[in-house]
Amino acid sequence: MPRPVTLTLSGAAGQIGYSLLFRVASGELLGPDTPVRVRMLERPDALGAAEGVALELQDAASPLLADVAVTADPRTAFDGADHAILVGARPRTAGMERADLLEANGAIFRTQGAAINDVAADDVRVLVIGNPANTNTMIAAAHAPDVPADRFTALTRLDHNRALAQLALRAGVSTREIARVTVWGNHSRTQYPDLRHALVGGRPALEVVDRAWAEGEFIETVAQRGSAIIAARGGSSVASTVTAIVDHVRLRRGGTPPGDWSSAGRVSDGSYGVPAGLVCSFPVTAADGDWHVVPGLEVDAFSRARIDASVAELADERDAVRHLGLL
Ligand code: NAD
Ligand code: LMR
Repeated sequence: MPRPVTLTLSGAAGQIGYSLLFRVASGELLGPDTPVRVRMLERPDALGAAEGVALELQDAASPLLADVAVTADPRTAFDGADHAILVGARPRTAGMERADLLEANGAIFRTQGAAINDVAADDVRVLVIGNPANTNTMIAAAHAPDVPADRFTALTRLDHNRALAQLALRAGVSTREIARVTVWGNHSRTQYPDLRHALVGGRPALEVVDRAWAEGEFIETVAQRGSAIIAARGGSSVASTVTAIVDHVRLRRGGTPPGDWSSAGRVSDGSYGVPAGLVCSFPVTAADGDWHVVPGLEVDAFSRARIDASVAELADERDAVRHLGLL
């Protein structure tokens, strides 16, 4: 057996954490031969619940589970972490303004970014799920100056999967037939799911589905899917989010298939006119354990306007957290 890797999960007693941990124990996330030390980070008032999850995790009797520990101290939780999955975040509650949410979560991600900087493994990879995911990622990365910024990603594979599914339904094909879908921008309703470069069975998607649908209903359905699920279930998506986390980590480790790509929120280096430093979803390939922005795609006027609108929202969020002294 190889040496165990250390995976730190914040928000481990929450809905996503409760489901994700068992995908870790089964080997789906990190591979069937990789033993894992699990570090569960929770708020002090949720430590009891986290201890209960840890008991259940032991009861999975996984041969891959080397060790499980629960803590409310970020520096203990991230000590030696190879993988940090940041799910724990303050949900928006009645009467909370957007700025209150950015402030509450900004403080969480500032502390966790600083702890990752100081005590995580040198090659740590960080995936942020807690909302607002892009801006939380930006804050965490900004407070971890010793960790290369491209080690931080915000989850937008869920949006990517939603786009794959909608296109497959419309075209009457399996998602296996689809490649090169992209989600640009923020993990919010301003996101731009883009079929301009997508392929269905090797043919341009815009020759298979009508352009009016691709530029209208498709974008609205994908971008508002999170809200539709909250309205229908009375809570935000959990199982599909966990599936997207598994997809993201497996693709990063194993590589994206030839001729295809995924989407992920990355600290911009200025690619595609996105101001450097913003965490924006881009088309990305994975090779050798790292994500790379797909270069050189044509961006027409329709796409430019859509990308710019989502990037403007990201810039507003950055300005708000700067104003709060979180950057
Ligand atoms: P949840 O409320 O069930 O769980 C959140 C957990 O985080 C709770 O157990 C809470 O105690 C914990 N937590 C809060 N602050 C913490 C802190 N400072 N340190 C450690 N733990 C902390 O919520 P959930 O359904 O698991 O969703 C979690 C987050 O994921 C939410 O912000 C949600 O909006 C977001 N989300 C993102 C995506 C995406 O695609 N990026 C998709 C779905 C949900
Ligand atoms: C989702 O896309 O399902 C979630 O990010 C929605 C939310 O606000 O938690």
